[in-house]
Amino acid sequence: MKVLLTGGTGYIGSHTAVELLRAGHDVVIIDNLSNSQVDVVEKIGQITGRPVAFYQGDLLNKDDLNAVFDRYKIDAVIHFAGFKAVGESVEKPLMYYQNNLISTLNLLDVMAAHSVKNLIFSSSATVYGMPEKLPITEDAPLGALSPYGYTKLAIERILGDVAASDAQWNITMLRYFNPVGADASGLIGESPRGIPNNLFPFIMRVATGELKELGVFGNDYDTPDGTCIRDYIHVTDLAIGHLRALEHLGGMRIYNLGTGCGYSVLDCVREFSQACGFDIPYVIKPRRAGDAPMVYADSSRAQQDLGWRAEKNLGDMCRDCWNFQKNQK
Ligand code: WQD
Repeated sequence: MKVLLTGGTGYIGSHTAVELLRAGHDVVIIDNLSNSQVDVVEKIGQITGRPVAFYQGDLLNKDDLNAVFDRYKIDAVIHFAGFKAVGESVEKPLMYYQNNLISTLNLLDVMAAHSVKNLIFSSSATVYGMPEKLPITEDAPLGALSPYGYTKLAIERILGDVAASDAQWNITMLRYFNPVGADASGLIGESPRGIPNNLFPFIMRVATGELKELGVFGNDYDTPDGTCIRDYIHVTDLAIGHLRALEHLGGMRIYNLGTGCGYSVLDCVREFSQACGFDIPYVIKPRRAGDAPMVYADSSRAQQDLGWRAEKNLGDMCRDCWNFQKNQK
């Protein structure tokens, strides 16, 4: 299939491009490069030995979208493009609502106009808000904790209404837990612009000496070591989940993509110290507002329907993260 990846030079998008190309699909990327670098396109080609078409454009501009659909016969779209920093979304909610919602509405319009109705959406476990029951299943109550989370929730609602209105649409929504790690080649990985938000990019900056120490946001939670637990999933496992979803498109589907295992912040610090060969210094800081003590997935529906399950463990995630970082000279 010829698959359009919106935001395809980003962290998850680039790894998904690699797995689609490895599986023999053709990939077209549209990206405005607001949070990624254009050399990722060449690296995807280097890793897979296959050409990948790139169009620098913005989903807020329908002309850019029409240009891509006029030029390529697209069979399916995987929609990654969107702002995703939780903290920034609290400071700039309008920017998040305009960008994430209008770009999605434009995409759906242009897809329908070109009779392309196969869509996979990059959603997030953030739509579950503060979980009531663990592990989290796809039927758990929904509720967002930030404007970013609300954009994911709103897009899920929009897609559900579109699918209900026209049976020709095949829409799969993938709810990611905590993606970390990098392709084994070490050529692509997570390199956010500016100050990172997430745990692993922070640990990475401590490991490279850019930051003196990691601040651990609270160690007085009701967890074995007092620090928060999350379901970290290797980005390659996540990317392969998109390939499986593409192979099983049909109607309206929703899947959790997680490992079902929970690791604490200190587990990650310990594992990363193993991977890089020296201790990652840290200090305990006050809790971060909005953090849930424990979040981890029940991904059995993806296993049953898609024949997918995460294969890599926390050690693999840390080693591949560090391998990518060492290549960033
Ligand atoms: C993980 C744990 C922090 C940084 C977020 C988004 C979610 C999704 C994944 C996009 C927490 C702790 C972190 C630090 C720390 N993104 N931490 N010191 O919050 O589970 O999820 O990323 O969809 O939408 O909310 O991930 O990596 O920010 O935090 O102690 O410097 O690490 O308190 O317990 P989170 P995270």
